[in-house]
Amino acid sequence: MYESAAESVEGSPFYLMQQSRDPYAKLAKIQNYRCRSAFKLIEIQSEFKLICPGMTVLDIGASPGGWSQVIVEELKLESPPNVAASEHGRNENERFSRNDLLDEIYSMPLINFNEKENKNESGGSCVSCDLRPFRHVNGARQVIGDIFEKETLDQIQNEQREFDLVVSDAHPGASQDPKQTIYSSTQLSQRIIEDVLPQLLSPGGAFLTKALSQKLVSLMKQHFQHVSQFKPNASRAESEEFFIIGLNYKRN
Ligand SMILES: C[S@@+](CC[C@H](N)C(=O)[O-])C[C@H]1O[C@@H](n2cnc3c(N)ncnc32)[C@H](O)[C@@H]1O
Repeated sequence: MYESAAESVEGSPFYLMQQSRDPYAKLAKIQNYRCRSAFKLIEIQSEFKLICPGMTVLDIGASPGGWSQVIVEELKLESPPNVAASEHGRNENERFSRNDLLDEIYSMPLINFNEKENKNESGGSCVSCDLRPFRHVNGARQVIGDIFEKETLDQIQNEQREFDLVVSDAHPGASQDPKQTIYSSTQLSQRIIEDVLPQLLSPGGAFLTKALSQKLVSLMKQHFQHVSQFKPNASRAESEEFFIIGLNYKRN
């Protein structure tokens, strides 16, 4: 059964119990990642080396920001969250007064950021997009909106015209019916491949997507020269979820 079916809806008693027993959820707390899914991208990155400093990366379905934390770290736009947190003597989940936050901001090391180009010295950048507002990830640019809305695409393209890599962990939310969840998730990824990538992914670029159905693999093969599938250990064994990696985008 898909892991986010009704009983594992975020905040439900089952979800909370599952989280308290989950080693990845614990590790995420210790290492100051915002969620356990950060470890899925860490595993994918160690296998496929998709992200390199200097690249432009778009993170679709980025809230609460776990993947974006990993991306800015790999792009060398920011230190790993555990280092940043300990350097500043705090856990980033703690709440602060406005003055504490200002002190925090003034004491942060300045990264060499070129505002006009929206890039750091290495030339890399990360744009993080989600429907839901979430706490800003240091080193990333944030766009809040539906990836299928023209206004959202315009805002993303104001930040960066095209991307070398697009990653999508976007998920439509759990339904009571696991089949419906699989269907909506597949539709969402299909729309990203067919409607969003032609506007935002550079020819020859790479795309990583969450998948719950093999149908997406054949679609990916139509658009990418090399297509691989991967199920990270951090992806729950009982879940249908796996990831598809497409390399060398064939844009028409
Ligand atoms: C599983 S969460 C992503 C977790 C994220 N990768 C992380 O590590 O923090 C899926 C996200 O997809 C987002 N989403 C779903 N449909 C979307 C859409 N049309 N446009 C933008 N974001 C969307 C949801 O709001 C949700 O926050």
